[in-house]
Amino acid sequence: MDFAKIIANWYRANKRDLPWRETKDPYLIWLSEIILQQTRVEQGLPYYYRFAERFPTVADLADADEDQVMKLWQGLGYYSRARNMHATAKTVYQQRGRAFPSSYSELIRLKGIGEYTASAISSFAANEARAVVDGNVYRLLSRYSGAGIPIDTTAGKKYFSALAADLLDKDDPGVHNQAVMEFGARQCRPARPFCSACPLASGCAALKEGKVGLLPVKSKRPR
Ligand code: ADE
Repeated sequence: MDFAKIIANWYRANKRDLPWRETKDPYLIWLSEIILQQTRVEQGLPYYYRFAERFPTVADLADADEDQVMKLWQGLGYYSRARNMHATAKTVYQQRGRAFPSSYSELIRLKGIGEYTASAISSFAANEARAVVDGNVYRLLSRYSGAGIPIDTTAGKKYFSALAADLLDKDDPGVHNQAVMEFGARQCRPARPFCSACPLASGCAALKEGKVGLLPVKSKRPR
C-alpha cells in the first residue's frame, strides 16, 4: 500500500471530530487556522466555538469593534493575530462582501495568509490540490524519507514541499491534508513516537536507519 492510502486508513480509524472539519465554509476554516497558528487544538477549541458563534460570517467580524474582538481573543496570546484577522476581515468584506475566497490564488494575497494557510483553506474548502506543510508534516516527511536537509532553510522548504506535493492524494486533497497533519501530531509525534505500532513503519527510512530521534533537522544558524 502507498503512503496516501495508509495515512487515509489510519485517519479514518483515529481522527478526532473537530468542528472545522465539519464545514466547507472558507471563512470558518480561516478562523480555525488563525486560532491554531500558535495554539494547541485543545486550547484553541473553546475560542473557535466562541468566535464562530459571535461572528458567524466575515461580515459580522468586519463589523465588530476592535475591543470586542480583542476581548474574545483574551488568553490566546500573540495578539497581533487577532488584530490582523480583524483587518483582513474588513478588507475581504469591503472587496467581496460576504464571499470569503476559497481559491489559493486569492487567499495568498490576503494579509496574514501564507502558503500553509492558503493551501489548508483551499484544500479543505474547495478540494484544491495543494499540499499543506506545517511543523507536523515536516517531521513526518523528514522521518519517512530519511532526509536530513534542514527544514528551516530555503532548500529544505523546497525539498519537503515538493515531496508533500508528490505524496498528495489528488482525488481527496482536503481529507489527505487533515490526515497527514493529524498523523504527524499524534502518531509521528516529536518525542516518543509510536513507531512500534506505526502503519508506515515498513517504509520509514528513519526507522530503518535508526535515526527517528535525529529528524527533522533544523539549521543552527538563524536565516
Ligand atoms: N492545526 C492547524 N490546522 C489544523 C487542523 N485543521 N486540524 C488540526 N490541527 C490543526
